[in-house]
Amino acid sequence: SILIVDFGSQVTQLIARRVREAGVYSEIAPFNMAEEAFERLKPKGVILSGSPASVAEEGSPRAPQVIFDSGRPILGICYGQQTMMAQLGGAVEMGDSGEFGRAFIAIENSCELFDGMWREGEQHQVWMSHGDKVTDLAPGFRVVATSPGAPFAVIADDERRYYGMQFHPEVVHTPDGAKLIANFARHVCGLAGDWTMAEFRDAKIAEIRETVGDGKVICGLSGGVDSAVAAVLVHEAIGEQLTCVFVDHGLMRAGEAEQVVSLFRGSYNIPLVHVNAETLFLNGLSGVTDPELKRKFIGKTFIDVFEDEAKKIGGADFLAQGTLYPDVIESVSFTGGPSVTIKSHHNVGGLPERMNMKLVEPLRELFKDEVRALGRELGLPEVFVGRHPFPGPGLAIRIPGEVSKERCDILRKADAIYLEEIRAAGLYDAIWQAFAVLLPVRTVGVMGDGRTYDHVLALRAVTSTDGMTAEVFPFPGDFLSRVATRIVNEVRGVNRVVYDYTSKPPGTIEWE
Ligand code: XMP
Repeated sequence: SILIVDFGSQVTQLIARRVREAGVYSEIAPFNMAEEAFERLKPKGVILSGSPASVAEEGSPRAPQVIFDSGRPILGICYGQQTMMAQLGGAVEMGDSGEFGRAFIAIENSCELFDGMWREGEQHQVWMSHGDKVTDLAPGFRVVATSPGAPFAVIADDERRYYGMQFHPEVVHTPDGAKLIANFARHVCGLAGDWTMAEFRDAKIAEIRETVGDGKVICGLSGGVDSAVAAVLVHEAIGEQLTCVFVDHGLMRAGEAEQVVSLFRGSYNIPLVHVNAETLFLNGLSGVTDPELKRKFIGKTFIDVFEDEAKKIGGADFLAQGTLYPDVIESVSFTGGPSVTIKSHHNVGGLPERMNMKLVEPLRELFKDEVRALGRELGLPEVFVGRHPFPGPGLAIRIPGEVSKERCDILRKADAIYLEEIRAAGLYDAIWQAFAVLLPVRTVGVMGDGRTYDHVLALRAVTSTDGMTAEVFPFPGDFLSRVATRIVNEVRGVNRVVYDYTSKPPGTIEWE
């Protein structure tokens, strides 16, 4: 295995993900618990993460000495490289400017880390994000790659097999980064690369059993992939100790609620309470137009309904949730300081505190595509597992302005046509998320001989690997005109269709 020492970078989980992709088991430990984790795990190699801190600042975090004493290979990324230099006798200075974004490094020398991929004399694109830089190498190290802003872009101590890089190999903007991490794990550390999602499942099942003991678990289903995978996994672990509650807020896509019920009751035989709360949600949303107020109302009402049901069931000790890693970082300030709330995600809520339950979040370190792989491993049907993500607050945040039953129905119809055409064109799996948004704007049109004055509908489709950044999906040829024609012809209440051409950032994927 590989131990990843976390110094608080926003992208530490991406390192873990790359190691998993290389077929190697890894664990992340915060720097102040890394010594303990090292002793327990006895890893074949260590990766030191980046950090928002500065090595040059007093009291900034360090890697535990045991790691350097162990004789294991080490890969230091950004801050990880800098602290390695500071701890092994080199020097790091606070930069007055930084280097952020795309950069090109020149490979000056070969080294074991580059074997089979990068050669002397080549140039490669990488992603830099640092203020400080190494100014003096620790004894034993040499420079193997440079960039205009970082003369020590990659450094190596061949004997100890310590490597440091100023850039971030874990992000997709370093095109060869995944390969570099795989090379470290497999080639440098000599790990086999045969770890799979099946092992992740088994490990999680064991962990859930141990955590839960003979306690009772309750799980809220949203209708989406994440909560379904979490529920099935927990069910595999503890069987009938689990009860699922599906709070149906009436803001689902066409046919979705039925699908969830038949999947759980029919295919899996998991105890399921289906609460139809459409009226409650729609009544409460009437007159609400502010996106955050919508989100907060839905989140809170979801909790209220869920709590009532939990009481009826007779109290549970644990709450299982399908929280994913991107949910965690987008909702929580990483440094503990003030952070900007972009959106209040409703699946990471105040439920556990209020209900005095402990949390079981088996997907917390996974990204969406990994959850899908796990879902397949658990035997969930492909149409369900491959489904595009759907936000907890549902269609309410795809109807800017006031939400009503009528508007939900219009949107559901239009959305179903759009998705039907996407599937028919064989494009569904190439898209991360595609959906329609019903605008509170009405425009004039002409149909037959008559004037119309109806809603505008926006179509959105994006590609993404984790939902944190996204690009607009380029539909081929006349696809969009075909969809627009069908929607205007078949959905009463819509007389104009537009396509959203905004990437994330600066846009977000959902409109609210
Ligand atoms: P944004 O709109 O922030 O969305 O770019 C990123 C991804 O998250 C989904 N999303 C949510 N998922 N609860 C969820 O479970 C929420 O409150 C929520 N809001 C947005 C969104 O659909 C996209 O996949």
